Amino acid sequence: MVDLQRRYWNNLAKSYQASTSIALNDFHYGPLVPGERQLNLLPELTPGDRVLELGCGGAQNSVWLAGRGMDCTAIDISSEQLRQARAIARRAGVKITFKRVPMETFHLRVATKFHLIHSSHAFEFVDDPAAIIRRAAVRLLPGGALLISTVHPLYNGEWVESLDEHGRPDGMGLLLRNYFQPPDDARFKNGRLEVISRAYPVASWFDWMRAAGLEVIRLVEPPALPRDTPPPYNSAGWDEAHEQLRAVPGTLIVAARRPG
Ligand SMILES: C[S@@+](CC[C@H](N)C(=O)[O-])C[C@H]1O[C@@H](n2cnc3c(N)ncnc32)[C@H](O)[C@@H]1O
Repeated sequence: MVDLQRRYWNNLAKSYQASTSIALNDFHYGPLVPGERQLNLLPELTPGDRVLELGCGGAQNSVWLAGRGMDCTAIDISSEQLRQARAIARRAGVKITFKRVPMETFHLRVATKFHLIHSSHAFEFVDDPAAIIRRAAVRLLPGGALLISTVHPLYNGEWVESLDEHGRPDGMGLLLRNYFQPPDDARFKNGRLEVISRAYPVASWFDWMRAAGLEVIRLVEPPALPRDTPPPYNSAGWDEAHEQLRAVPGTLIVAARRPG
């Protein structure tokens, strides 16, 4: 899966950063949903605290944290996303340590322990989120926080119209076929598989955090902001999904901490 993701994000990086509007004056959690200014999920941090971002893309969240004095490291598999991230950090006048390394093996390249490890919409692209959570837990200082936002299982869900006995839409809305195994969101181009995005039932994230020795502090399923409130993360494509994301969560946020 890593090679597939790397190719996809290398091809997409330039147009993704140009077509997605990602704020530098807030910490974002996902498409159309409120940012940190409204959600207040980050732990208390002091300038100089060490922070690691997994699957950073353009690293806008690390740029925001570095602007507040944090000592930021950000990793991604895509050299092109990292090229964009370096340019964004340079323009913002902040220093971030970037590493091109998969989330699967970040622990081999990053030896220090962190006050905060965070990741926004990257865990849906890995094969084994639980293993990465275990490795992240080991890299947290006692009392350190792990903050992950990812695709919500209802968003990847398979939705069908509910029908009456005559096969007509019965006005009962939409039914989810299988919550426990949300289908992969597999995207194809010219008949070739380009990328896979996975979602998992909410309880899985809770269990993975607990199994890694972490305390779950918050689970958040934010609806999209109203149309008249600009979100910290948006694009024309996401804007089209606005009505759906007002009714069904597209992003799941899990905030946990290492006891100590
Ligand atoms: C949807 S983008 C999100 C980027 C950024 N976190 C944000 O919120 O804008 C997903 C990112 O995850 C990265 N990614 C995907 N699989 C990865 C992996 N196995 N290890 C590290 N990064 C990965 C991609 O290269 C891409 O930059």
